[in-house]
Amino acid sequence: MREFDAQRRNTFFDQVFAPVQARDVREEREAWLHPRDRILLERLLPGRKGIGTVLDFGCGQGRLLSELGKLGFSLIGIEPSDGMRAEAENNCRDHPEIRLVAGGIEALEEIEDNAVDFFIAMGVFQYLGDEETATLMQAIERVLAPGGTVIATFQNALFDLFTFNKYTLDFMMNDLLAPHANGAEKESVESALAGLMTRSDAPPYGEARARDNIFVRLTNPLTQTEELRSHGWAVKGRYFYEYFGLPPLVKDAAPDTFARIVESFEVVNAEAWQGHFMANAFLVELERGG
Ligand SMILES: C[S@@+](CC[C@H](N)C(=O)[O-])C[C@H]1O[C@@H](n2cnc3c(N)ncnc32)[C@H](O)[C@@H]1O
Repeated sequence: MREFDAQRRNTFFDQVFAPVQARDVREEREAWLHPRDRILLERLLPGRKGIGTVLDFGCGQGRLLSELGKLGFSLIGIEPSDGMRAEAENNCRDHPEIRLVAGGIEALEEIEDNAVDFFIAMGVFQYLGDEETATLMQAIERVLAPGGTVIATFQNALFDLFTFNKYTLDFMMNDLLAPHANGAEKESVESALAGLMTRSDAPPYGEARARDNIFVRLTNPLTQTEELRSHGWAVKGRYFYEYFGLPPLVKDAAPDTFARIVESFEVVNAEAWQGHFMANAFLVELERGG
């Protein structure tokens, strides 16, 4: 896994991710809405009438903001990457009332205490270092209105067990077997485990795959609730997304089965226990209080 490096991360989002992801949200709305956006829009928001201010932190190209703009919320987007923010400005051009702020965690200083009813961070926390994460959580606590909600997503550490590839090997060596498989036998253990997989080197390096290029934090959903509780946050719901119906390496052997399984879980059955293993990421709904 790559070491945390804020400069490297910022360059990656600005110069690699932004051009690859560039889309006109208005023209591709249906295809472009992400499952995590749909969980928020279809599963969480309908029961939450009367919300005032929504802040989308790390709003990227403004896909979610442009949707929320149609629902009449007071909206703020914060985005450090000039490339991503330029996309957001374009995609939100029908909603000039949306306030788009340049910057990262420090930009939250512009937001007043207790001003945000819904703090959203989709696909952001996994790119933050330890210090940034702690600073962000403190800033959220300050700007969140009493009774406010945080919606944040995380990369699922357990999904690596389902992929039977180089990530499975990393998970077994670093999370399950360390620190016991060490010393003289470490290499034997690793090569024996690699021998159980047909493609222990897959997937090949990807230029636009964050995990191959920058620090990406993986989070274990089985321990996260307790960790958050110890910091005064209560998990009100956990919704898995980016389901893989079958491990990526066998997907092409049974594409119909793959599609059927995805269809039965994605968004509609996002809380299912299978998500712990079969989904690449998860969304949590948090409130203040243990
Ligand atoms: C995978 S994109 C997700 C974008 C958007 N939230 C979405 O769901 O499509 C990750 C975003 O996090 C932003 N980001 C990275 N580090 C950040 C930080 N320290 N503060 C705020 N945003 C950050 C990146 O610039 C990028 O736009």
